[in-house]
Amino acid sequence: MTANELRKKYLDFFQSKGHTIIPSASLIPENDPTVLFTTAGMQQFKPYYTGEKDPIKNFGARRATSIQKCFRTSDIDSVGDESHLTFFEMLGNFSFGDYFKEDAIKWAWEFITKEMKISPERCFVSVFEGDPAVPEDKESVEIWKDLGLTDDKIKKCGRKDNFWGPTGDEGPCGPTTEIYVDGIEVWNIVFNEYYCSADKSLEPLEQKGVDTGMGLERLAMVVQNKKTIFETDLFTPLIETNRIMLDHSRAIVFLISDGVRPSNKEQGYILRRLMRRVMAKKSVESINIENLLKRIIEEYKKFYPELNEESVLSVFREENSKFQKAIRQGLRELEKVGKLDAVSAFKLFESYGLTFEVIKDFAGTKAASLNQKDFDKEFKKHQEISRAGSEQKFKGGLADASERTIKYHTAAHLMLAALRQALGDGVAQKGANITAERLRFDFSYPEKMTPEQIKQVEDLVNEKIKENLPVKMEEMFLKEAKALGATGAFESKYDERVKVYSIGSSTSSASAFSREICGGPHVNSTGEIGRFKIIKEESSSAGVRRIKAIVE
Ligand code: SER
Repeated sequence: MTANELRKKYLDFFQSKGHTIIPSASLIPENDPTVLFTTAGMQQFKPYYTGEKDPIKNFGARRATSIQKCFRTSDIDSVGDESHLTFFEMLGNFSFGDYFKEDAIKWAWEFITKEMKISPERCFVSVFEGDPAVPEDKESVEIWKDLGLTDDKIKKCGRKDNFWGPTGDEGPCGPTTEIYVDGIEVWNIVFNEYYCSADKSLEPLEQKGVDTGMGLERLAMVVQNKKTIFETDLFTPLIETNRIMLDHSRAIVFLISDGVRPSNKEQGYILRRLMRRVMAKKSVESINIENLLKRIIEEYKKFYPELNEESVLSVFREENSKFQKAIRQGLRELEKVGKLDAVSAFKLFESYGLTFEVIKDFAGTKAASLNQKDFDKEFKKHQEISRAGSEQKFKGGLADASERTIKYHTAAHLMLAALRQALGDGVAQKGANITAERLRFDFSYPEKMTPEQIKQVEDLVNEKIKENLPVKMEEMFLKEAKALGATGAFESKYDERVKVYSIGSSTSSASAFSREICGGPHVNSTGEIGRFKIIKEESSSAGVRRIKAIVE
């Protein structure tokens, strides 16, 4: 049975049991800022479990089925073994206050043994053994026994294995029962009985629900009698490639098609890590990645028409050229250093864009003791420092609020926007010190600016000053500001109110020249600033450049 047939059989089966087929949601969750990615089929249905949304009104039934695109970083270290992936497809059926344990288990077993014709001999199941907060799931044990499973085929496990959720900070969750085939976990059946709040306390849900998830790749592996997911027909057209490359390339295709762009934070940072790892490996394995991406798109487009070859290739090329520039210097630097700890590894990332995985791949024994946890800690520390720095900028970064100082402040906004236009979106503000006499501005960029680039930035700022553009302030939630593409290093809560300053002829549309989260104050229109001149461009620290500028 091909993967395509499996997809169809699954949806048909649950449709025949009264489920409405719902299309996959995007890999970027629409209404849940507490998670970066869609990691499970149930995520788009969260409001139906809590009763906030009415399934009957929206899709005519209290049960649904879907094939959901999922992306998980939690298993990234296992990618390359026989059964783990970052991107995968999840087959799911869901009940919102409708059927519960008995039907969920019965149908799962029917699908596995009758539809998939997998012999019960190859299977065992697990159920929740109970703990002080949640009782043992005796009901599921009885249901399994009624279906003919003997005691030795029913394993009892604790929280770690047989309790699922919530996704993000809070949401529905509950005990699970899982089906294993040939020792591989293929199907997770969750009984959503609780709501887990942000403080981790559990409240019983008013209506009980079912959320099941089965990895398509793993199902294909056991149905097609293969030893690894990479030998299934989901991968065979591409099999000559290294497994990690294959996994990451597939994830890259789907992430870009759902709108993620490489950057140094959130989803963009994960995408950048996947891309740079593939790019770095490419030189070792001499693989044509563009061809690989094209072939993946060709394979999957039948089922996922949103895959967009043009944007995947153009995003890939742009990131690749940034990376190739950075990596030559970075690898030279890597050769020079002795033992690598988290601090020196993070410096390599900050200065040259060498991501954790690239460093690990290239540094060999030098990086033997380097681990992801310490690296992440360093990353977090750095983010906190830069947040403190940017808060400092808005409070203390301005020497005073005099008329002249304010001109410099608005000029700094214009300059940041101009730098990003000239040098790319990777440019972020790292600090500023603004007095009535001059503007000092630090920003991330790995190289010295050329005289042409300096002139380009100067000209662009002066052009915007000449246009006498209005400067407008609006208050909004941080998540709205981000959605508008506002820059600013605040990593505060999404529901926090922030001030956003926009400079542009139509400041309310997406076409504003500059848009920053900022406490102000600013001039009313750019014509007040005067003539802008960069007097110095120099290194400030590794990977950070400093500009001194004046207005006349
Ligand atoms: N939400 C559960 C999982 O992701 C079952 O769908 O495993």
